[in-house]
Amino acid sequence: MYHNLNKSIYRNLIIGVDTKIPISNGDIVTAINFDNAATTPPFISVLKEIVNYSPWYSSIHRGIGYKSLVSSKIYEGSRKTVLDFVGGDIEKDTVIYVKNTTEAINKLSNTLCKDSKQNFLLSSDMEHHSNDLPWRNKYNIDYVSVDQCGKLRLKDLEYKLRKNNGKVKLVTVAGASNVTGYVNPIYSIAALAHRYDAKILVDGAQLVPHAPIDVKAHHSEEHIDYLVFSAHKMYAPFGTGVLIGPIDTFKDSAPDYVGGGTVEIVNRNYIKWKSPPDKEEAGSPNIMGVVALLSAIKTLGSLGMNNIRNYEESLTKYTINRLKALPGVKLYCVSDKFAARVGIISFNIRGVPHDITAKILSYEWGIAVRNGCFCAQPYVKKLLNISEEAEEHYIKDNSIKRPGMVRISFGMYNDYSEIDLMVDAISEIIKNKEYYLDKYGKEV
Ligand code: ALA
Repeated sequence: MYHNLNKSIYRNLIIGVDTKIPISNGDIVTAINFDNAATTPPFISVLKEIVNYSPWYSSIHRGIGYKSLVSSKIYEGSRKTVLDFVGGDIEKDTVIYVKNTTEAINKLSNTLCKDSKQNFLLSSDMEHHSNDLPWRNKYNIDYVSVDQCGKLRLKDLEYKLRKNNGKVKLVTVAGASNVTGYVNPIYSIAALAHRYDAKILVDGAQLVPHAPIDVKAHHSEEHIDYLVFSAHKMYAPFGTGVLIGPIDTFKDSAPDYVGGGTVEIVNRNYIKWKSPPDKEEAGSPNIMGVVALLSAIKTLGSLGMNNIRNYEESLTKYTINRLKALPGVKLYCVSDKFAARVGIISFNIRGVPHDITAKILSYEWGIAVRNGCFCAQPYVKKLLNISEEAEEHYIKDNSIKRPGMVRISFGMYNDYSEIDLMVDAISEIIKNKEYYLDKYGKEV
């Protein structure tokens, strides 16, 4: 597809790209959003679909009224669309709707731990807290290490699988890091895990919205057993997350949340749970969230995930090159120019605390970025070389300034002119560092 050097061809598909906001000198500017790894703005098509569907809005699985039947059909039919989007198998896999990726991983953790025979699990040093904390206290857990550049060490994964000799139940890794944007070699990881009789979960929160993914056939050694992702990061607000996995995983155990919609038969002494996915979706389903997700999948599919990936990759390369040219900028994990990555770049301006940089970009130029540790403290601390001793100090003393980074994360609608504006802003901060530090404070 052709891209004008400055404008994204996807821009007119998104709502909010021209929103005006005030900045500190009183001017009104067009907001720039470089925080898409947190949440993306909605597709216009998604909002239109919500309005189109609204006259049909009614209860799911709970009524014989015409609208209820129509809505339930849309809701149930959506599972096949979701599976088709990621190459899942409608005969073998189930799609469970939850609130977001975090809830999806918690649910899987609650489900898998009921089989206590095999409760060893491998996560990694580059995970978001949501792919670390839900596994703690339920499993014996070890972490696959990352190398100097912050990339997952496949050799360490293999070593840990071999050392535990068939006892690892699950390898759980990010599809792409929300800190460095590295895309993990999920198919090699799957093949390795399967060789040692482990299954694999891919946290797809940062991958699914930005690149094609195929979970592959169940018999393939590269099959992704479990996949989770969030609609709000794929231009579809309204609170839906997805957990995909084999139907068998959810067949026999009691659900983690119980209540309406989860039971076939219940009396004071007996409960017969419904089959998955119903038993795993307690309470009234979020049909608006599912309508939004379906619409986003349709739009993403028509645009082509490869095209989206290629465009965002070009934005990322351009930004890295421009920021590399600024001597006052410390970029993290960009030395390997062949590394597969999504559009996430983390950096710091030397001598300017991360929160102050983010504040200046927002207040002075209307540019939204995220700063801190991005819910991935162990990984960010590693990349920043924070010693255990220093960490002890942060733990003991709340008043000590916490280290962190500034993160740029792209969506398909971002464009080169926005990047140029940000690079100019960063150059200006570097040039007049003392002025900005005086104005915004040196404190983290
Ligand atoms: N995990 C999301 C982020 O990285 C919220 O910002």
